Amino acid sequence: MRRVGIIGVGEYLPDKVLTNHDLEKLVDTTDEWIITRTGIKERRIASDNEAVSDLAIKAAREALEDAKLAPQDLDLIILATVTGDMPFPSTASIVQNALSAKHAAALDISAACAGFVYALSIAQQFIASGTYKNALVIGAEKLSAVTDWKDRNTCVLLGDGAGACVVSEVKEGGILSTYLGCDGSNMELLNMPAGGSRMPASHETVDSRMHYLKMRGNELFKIAVKSMTMAAEKVLEQAGLTFRDVDLIVPHQANSRIILAVAKKLGIPEDKIYLNIEKYGNMSSASTVTALVEAVKEGRVKKGDIVLLDAFGAGLVWGACVIKW
Ligand code: COA
Repeated sequence: MRRVGIIGVGEYLPDKVLTNHDLEKLVDTTDEWIITRTGIKERRIASDNEAVSDLAIKAAREALEDAKLAPQDLDLIILATVTGDMPFPSTASIVQNALSAKHAAALDISAACAGFVYALSIAQQFIASGTYKNALVIGAEKLSAVTDWKDRNTCVLLGDGAGACVVSEVKEGGILSTYLGCDGSNMELLNMPAGGSRMPASHETVDSRMHYLKMRGNELFKIAVKSMTMAAEKVLEQAGLTFRDVDLIVPHQANSRIILAVAKKLGIPEDKIYLNIEKYGNMSSASTVTALVEAVKEGRVKKGDIVLLDAFGAGLVWGACVIKW
């Protein structure tokens, strides 16, 4: 099997900033409540004429430039999203066309907040086996399109953005291990009920606000801490490493209290956690990748460092990955 790593990173965050103070005017909430309960100060909101593909394309171009590859060098594009441009075709197809990545197969995957780790793991398999040489892995979301702006339980948490990585064969380091899992029995804790084949769009589904994300946050909180801790333990064990070997943990950014609780359970000190939730909120599949991209850009990840990705989301699903940079 070939050694596989990330050779280029990119991101795109929409310009519009929605602060907690802006939300105070929309729902019964306070800046203080949002910061203390979640760690979020502001989030980005895509414009009406920006779809997920538009965000993804910009992040992808930056990642390709960073990797010094042309779109024609790509063999595969995997786009993790739960807010694609439309149910079909895949948003990855739209990105493939916009980039003129003529030689690339393209597909979307749906694994919510763990989407980027799932997508990275799939890309790794294709490259490790020698089937493909270069893959583009993107996490992109326009959660503002499925946010109920009258529901204070959810609207304060979510944001829009995209991150991308170019994944290729590397000579040293690279992905050391990945661990993915799912517990479908708790799918009702986080979902968007209408718009699929179970409950197709109708006047009734629109009137009853079923096209918005629904979440039972309090119940999810405990499961998130447990699942992310377990996934981190498993993935490190598979890699033959311990928590002391980890230089930086880059977790999914749903709630800073979840992240700090996981780090505490794992015995990882706070200075080894990368957090950008303050600026962006929860961007589902875009969160982990954007955090990784920013950690790299800020010099928090250096050559030879051990980086632990750890994500959890609707499904319920979880995914962790250890990378030697
Ligand atoms: N502003 C002010 N009050 C709010 C509020 C808001 N935006 N949202 C909820 N509240 C209220 C609730 O109505 C509740 O009031 P009550 O006690 O009078 O009923 C109170 O705050 C506490 O609510 P609770 O849900 O227990 O708060 P919490 O501490 O669990 O925080 C979340 C809520 C959503 C921030 C938190 O549970 C969370 O982050 N959950 C996990 C999210 C997650 O992991 N998602 C999956 C991965 S994407």
